Amino acid sequence: MLAHITATHAVMGAGRMGLAMIRRWLDAGLPPARLMAIEIGEANRSRLQALGIQTFSAADQLPSVPDMLWLAIKPQQFHAQIEAIHHAIRGRGILICSIMAGIPLAKLQALGAQHHYARVMPNTPVATGQGVCGLFAPELKAAQSDLLTQMLSPLGMIYPCRKEDDLHAITAISGSGPAYVYMFMHALKEAALRLGIDPSQAADLVRATLAGSLTLAEQTGQDFLSLADAVTSPAGTTEAARNVLDNALIELVAKAAIANAQRSRELAE
Ligand SMILES: NC(=O)c1ccc[n+]([C@@H]2O[C@H](COP(=O)([O-])OP(=O)(O)OC[C@H]3O[C@@H](n4cnc5c(N)ncnc54)[C@H](OP(=O)(O)O)[C@@H]3O)[C@@H](O)[C@H]2O)c1
Repeated sequence: MLAHITATHAVMGAGRMGLAMIRRWLDAGLPPARLMAIEIGEANRSRLQALGIQTFSAADQLPSVPDMLWLAIKPQQFHAQIEAIHHAIRGRGILICSIMAGIPLAKLQALGAQHHYARVMPNTPVATGQGVCGLFAPELKAAQSDLLTQMLSPLGMIYPCRKEDDLHAITAISGSGPAYVYMFMHALKEAALRLGIDPSQAADLVRATLAGSLTLAEQTGQDFLSLADAVTSPAGTTEAARNVLDNALIELVAKAAIANAQRSRELAE
């Protein structure tokens, strides 16, 4: 899928997310020679070297200017790195793609007006190729947009944002969403234990229930409420559970997602 890519990429910050993206790109056929990584952590540098990738411990050590720079350090690390990044990308205009939460384009543009910028909000399932990437890239040339789409495709679904502000909602839904899903799985497992399910089987039971429900939702394409209704008969067992869950769950999840988006806005200020 990516074997034909000739553009060179530097990833700054190969931690959990940066490394997951790099691994997907390599799995999708990107030649390791197209990648450079800037990573402070020695253990992560060793992992990258084992994958055949040239690594550097600081941005100003890059031997050549990449065609594309991926910023995957923590948002709070960005401001202290502006000078070093400047040095790394020198004068040439390149494509800079940030996955940092809460650093708006206006702040990224401190790296220079000659560059083009994109913001991507991934989630942890990108490690499996089944992630979601919110994308805001308003001013790219067609070739840059094409390159970005090719690089994001092996990570999962791409959700294009019409305005930068939409990235807060994307953070609250797909960015943090896996955490809500795992919390629900944990809650279902705890309930299973309280009902006397064998502790050695409880996690498998929950995983299989979620996997089967997701496959059914995908295969039928039905809306989620209809799928829930299909399990619910009048005065039956599911109805007894839904009498407890229905409104409470919808309100709770909405409240959580709104708190998430609000925090995302605060961090961007
Ligand atoms: N994780 C998610 O679900 C998620 C989702 C969407 C967006 N993001 C964004 O992705 C970015 C990375 O998140 P993460 O969870 O992958 O964090 P992480 O695991 O801490 O990765 C950041 C990596 O950058 C390294 N680093 C720090 N300063 C550096 C420098 N000056 N030069 C080169 N490398 C440096 C860190 O090393 P040390 O650990 O040694 O400091 C670490 O290995 C964040 O901006 C976050 O907002 C994450």
